[in-house]
Amino acid sequence: MNVNLTIDGVPVSVPKGTWLVEAAKTVQQEIPVYCYHTKLGPAGLCRVCLVDIEGMPKLQIACNTPAAEGMVVRTRGARVEAGRAMILELLLVNHPLDCPICDKGGECDLQDYAMAYARGNSDVVDPKTRKPKAVDLGPTIVLDEERCVVCQRCVRFDDIIADERQLVVKDRGAHDIIATATGSPYRHNFTGNVTELCPVGALTSKTYRFKSRPWDLNRTQTTCTQCAVGCQQFADVRYGTLLRTMSVENDDAISDGWLCDRGRYNIGFYASPDRLTQPLYRKGGSFVQIGWDDAFALWGKAITDAIAAKGTPSVGAIGGGRLTNEEAYVLQYLFRKIGVANLDWRSGRQRQATPGANGGALTDIELAQAIVIAGESIEERAPVLWLRVRKAALRGGATVVHAATPAEAVAALPAGATRVALVWDGIDLARGRAFADAFAGVAELSTYVASEQGNARGAEAMGMLPWSGPGYAAARARGRDAAGMFEDARNGSLAVLSMFGVNPVRNAADGAAVAQALVKVPFVVVSELFLTETADRATLVLPAKGAFEKTGTTLNLAGDLLPVNAAVQAPDGVLSDLEMLLGLAAQLDVDLPRAEELDATVIEHMAHAPEDFGFGDSRFASDVASVPEDVPPATILSGGGTWRHDPTLATLQVETPSSQPVGATA
Ligand code: SF4
Ligand code: SF4
Ligand code: FES
Repeated sequence: MNVNLTIDGVPVSVPKGTWLVEAAKTVQQEIPVYCYHTKLGPAGLCRVCLVDIEGMPKLQIACNTPAAEGMVVRTRGARVEAGRAMILELLLVNHPLDCPICDKGGECDLQDYAMAYARGNSDVVDPKTRKPKAVDLGPTIVLDEERCVVCQRCVRFDDIIADERQLVVKDRGAHDIIATATGSPYRHNFTGNVTELCPVGALTSKTYRFKSRPWDLNRTQTTCTQCAVGCQQFADVRYGTLLRTMSVENDDAISDGWLCDRGRYNIGFYASPDRLTQPLYRKGGSFVQIGWDDAFALWGKAITDAIAAKGTPSVGAIGGGRLTNEEAYVLQYLFRKIGVANLDWRSGRQRQATPGANGGALTDIELAQAIVIAGESIEERAPVLWLRVRKAALRGGATVVHAATPAEAVAALPAGATRVALVWDGIDLARGRAFADAFAGVAELSTYVASEQGNARGAEAMGMLPWSGPGYAAARARGRDAAGMFEDARNGSLAVLSMFGVNPVRNAADGAAVAQALVKVPFVVVSELFLTETADRATLVLPAKGAFEKTGTTLNLAGDLLPVNAAVQAPDGVLSDLEMLLGLAAQLDVDLPRAEELDATVIEHMAHAPEDFGFGDSRFASDVASVPEDVPPATILSGGGTWRHDPTLATLQVETPSSQPVGATA
C-alpha cells in the first residue's frame, strides 16, 4: 500500500513504511547520512539526516522516520540547516581534519557535508582529543581512530551482513573506538567492504593507502572473474596501474553490492615484474625468448605434425574456465575444426559447473526457507554467494543445512519447507546426484554449482567439454577429458597439449602425477600470466592477458551473461587468448568466425542450462578412476596462486592465521 506525502513541496507516493531518506531520493532530494546505509538500514546514531516535518515540534531524523499519509516534509530551510550545522560541529569537535593526507579526501562524506552544511567555524575552544592513528586492525585494514565518527556501519556490516560480529565499539563518549571484540586481528573473507562503508577515512585498505587521489583514477565497470559469482566491480586505474577495485552498490542481482577480499584485493599481480612478456621456447632444457611469429609457427607445426603422424587423438586442449566466452568458443571451434575432440576446461577437482534445469538466480537464495550445502568450502569457492546464504538466514529466517548425507539434510529441513536452495561444489558427482535426488520432490528447488573458475559455466556452454559442443549439443566425436589426456600423456600417446589459464600441476587432484605426465608429452603449450608450476614444464609458454586487460563476456554460476571490460593496458608483448588462437588459426588454415558472428553465437549458446541433466550427470564423469588426493584447507586466496605475485598481498599474511595482536602501530 502506498502513502502520499510532499517533500519540499513535491508530491511523493511511496510504499507504506518507506524511510523518509529513501522517499526523498524519488524526488532527487539528497539527505545527508552517516550511520544510515541502504543495505544496513537505520541506526539513528549520527543525527545528520535531520528534516523538518510539519506538525512536529522538533527536527526528526529522516533515516528512521517512515513516510506517512499527508506528511509535509522539508529537507531544506533555516531550521534544518541550523540543525545539521550543529551536528557537523559536534562531529568535527575531535576530528583531526587531516584531509590533505587522508586517503578518503575527495570522496569523503564528512568533507562533502562539512562543505555543504557546516558553519565553517566552531565555538569549541578545548583541544581535540588525540587518539592512535594507523592502528593495524588485521591483515587487510588500517584504522585511524581519530577520524572515526562512530557511525557503526562497520560494526553493523560485520553483524548483519557478514555474520561475523568481530568488530565492536569499545569505551564510551569521546573515547569510543572501533576494535575487535577479542583483540584478535580483524580477519574474514569480506573485510574490505567496511572500507567502502566507512563514510570517512577511518578504515583504509593496506593495499591502497597513500596510492592515489580519487580524481586521479580512471574507472571502468567490469565483472570479477576470480570465482563464478561474477560480482560487478569498478576497476580504478591511475597512470596505467590498477590500484583498487570497488563494489557496485546497485548490483542487486549478482553481488548485492559487496565484494569478497579475493575479488577486492587480489589485483596487484597485474603490475608484477614477474609477468611473462614474451613467448618462451624450451631449448636444450632451458627457456629462450622468441617472437610471436616463431611461436605460432612452432605451435602450428607441432599440431600438424602430430595429427599427420599419430592422428587427432594425439592432440588436446584444456582451458576455458578462466577465459571469456568468446575465447572458450573459439578455442573449441578451432580445435574441432581440425578434428581434435580432446577438449576440457576441468583441470582441477571440479567435474561439473552447469546446474541443470533447476538452476536458480542468485536472488532466489534469499527466498529459500532452507539452504542445503552439499559441498566443501563454499564460502571460499564462491564467497559472495555465501553472503546471500547469510542474508537468507539472518533476514529471511532460512535454515542453513550442512549435512554429511542427503538423509540427514532432509531430516534437518524445517517442517513444510517448499522452497529449498541446494548448493554443490561440483566435485563429487555421486554426492551431488544423491543430494539432488533427495530434494527432487521439493516444489521450488533452485540449484547452484559454486565453481572454482570464473567462467566454468561459460566454458561448458561454449562447448569446452569432451562430449558437447556449443549450447551443450552432443559433439560429433567424443574426446578425452583432462584426466584422460593426462593418462594419455603418461602412456606416451599424447603428442601436443595446449593449456590456457590452467595450472593442473598445482590444482589437479594429483598434481605430482600431472607433472610427471607432462614430461612425456613432446610439445606442451601453456598460455599464462606467470611461469606457473605447469608453465614451467611446458615446451612453449605464451604470455597472456588477464581479465582486466581484455574485453568479452562471461557466464556466472547462475547463468547471467556479464561483460568483461578492459580497464588496464597489458604489458607490451602480451596477447589475449583470443589473439593467440587467431595466430594459431592462421597457421592451421582455419577461418575463425568474425567478431559479430561470435557475439551472436555466444548469446545463442549462453544461459539456458539443458533440461536433461542435473547434479552429477554421468556425462560429467571422469575418463579415469579417481585418484587419492590430499586437499589442503581452502582459503580466500586458494586458486591459481596469482596473489603470490603481489608483493603487498604476499606480506599481508591473508592466507595464514596471524598471531599479531591488534593495536600495533603500522
Ligand atoms: S570506522 Fe568508519 S564505519 Fe566504522 S564506526 Fe568509524 S566512521 Fe563508522
Ligand atoms: S565472490 Fe567471486 S566474483 Fe565476487 S568478488 Fe569474490 S571472487 Fe569476485
Ligand atoms: S543517518 Fe540518520 S541518524 Fe545517522
